[in-house]
Amino acid sequence: MSFLSTGVKTAINELSSQLDSPFFVYDLDTLNSHLAQLVAQTEVKLWYAVKANPLSKIIQCLDNAGFNFDVASKGELEQVLAQGVSSDRVLNTGPAKSPKQIKHFIERGVRTFVAESINQVRWLNEQAKLQNCQLQVLLRVQLRWPEGEKNPLGGDSLTPFGLGCTEWQALNITDYDALSFDGLHIFQWGNMLSTQKLSELWSQMIAPLSQLARDLNINLKILDLGGGLGIPYTQNDITLNWDDLITALAKIKKQAGVEELWMELGRYAVGECGHYAAPVVERKQNYGQQQVILSGGINHLLRPAVTSQDFPAALLRDSHTPTQAMSLYGPLCTALDSLGEHALPSDLNEHDWLVFSQCGAYGFSESMPYFLCHELAGEYVLEQNKLSCLRAAEDASYYLR
Ligand SMILES: Cc1ncc(COP(=O)(O)O)c(C=O)c1O
Repeated sequence: MSFLSTGVKTAINELSSQLDSPFFVYDLDTLNSHLAQLVAQTEVKLWYAVKANPLSKIIQCLDNAGFNFDVASKGELEQVLAQGVSSDRVLNTGPAKSPKQIKHFIERGVRTFVAESINQVRWLNEQAKLQNCQLQVLLRVQLRWPEGEKNPLGGDSLTPFGLGCTEWQALNITDYDALSFDGLHIFQWGNMLSTQKLSELWSQMIAPLSQLARDLNINLKILDLGGGLGIPYTQNDITLNWDDLITALAKIKKQAGVEELWMELGRYAVGECGHYAAPVVERKQNYGQQQVILSGGINHLLRPAVTSQDFPAALLRDSHTPTQAMSLYGPLCTALDSLGEHALPSDLNEHDWLVFSQCGAYGFSESMPYFLCHELAGEYVLEQNKLSCLRAAEDASYYLR
């Protein structure tokens, strides 16, 4: 399996011959055909978790495919609305919904919210009354499992995302007459690659969630399972099969007895469409190890440093020399700036470019571009085999004051 199609490779080759600093390319043709497959079912209502990639062109593809939008900040909301998406297709999740933010969201027409605390419920009710409207609210629940597995989304650890069933018992839904409590939201496991494991986790959630709904006197119309569908980051990882997932989700929907099953997909929706290309600055041998220094690293792609999971890397140029293990580093003065150890052709040198794939989600906007004042990476899209620039690389004077 290669993560780099011929079309994308040609486009990156073309750009790399004109540019000398790192850039992202998003393959919108591949994205559009993937999204068409995701929406061709009636079991799950799909939302796009904008945090995965808030780029205008990406949002437009999801909009055209018929996705709705899950936003977690004012910036994400404004970016979605700026693409012409109607506010009745927007849902607000996130642990830091201040009264000020809630007020802004309601003013902008958002009516569906996931409440992550009893304070949020109170503020949603107060702001809805002030603006004379009714809001649809899902309560976010955080469960504990006996096996105790860790995960970037928390897994079994304590996180600020929602409340436990015991804590939600303090909520009296009749105190909030501007809110319709239509369902529950639960999401604690990211980047899962097994349909069976996902099904087991979802299945175990049903009993405690149904019990909570009964305790709170909520008619459980909607169950929102968040995201968590993974994509392969190595040649050995499997790819989740969408039809199998839909079969599993249909069972969960039936078991839970809900009218609507919702998911907010980030990684699985857009992760595979993005690629990041960076020039090699130098290669050296150090303590017997081959080290390759690149002009971009975690300033443009932070994820390996926070998850210890690398993006797959390839040499852009064709080479038939045998591969050898090389450690890849970015330009920052911190040992955290490592993009992993990869098997790369042994003739790799300082005139080369490397391409990292599976960077369409949690890439550019999850990174730390300001540290050390290197350039911001450019962002390009490939659409109907035509490349266009959304933002060229910018040097630090673009943002330094
Ligand atoms: C509330 C919520 N929903 C959905 C997602 C998207 O998750 P994924 O990228 O695993 O699909 C996230 C990611 O953090 C999230 O916080």
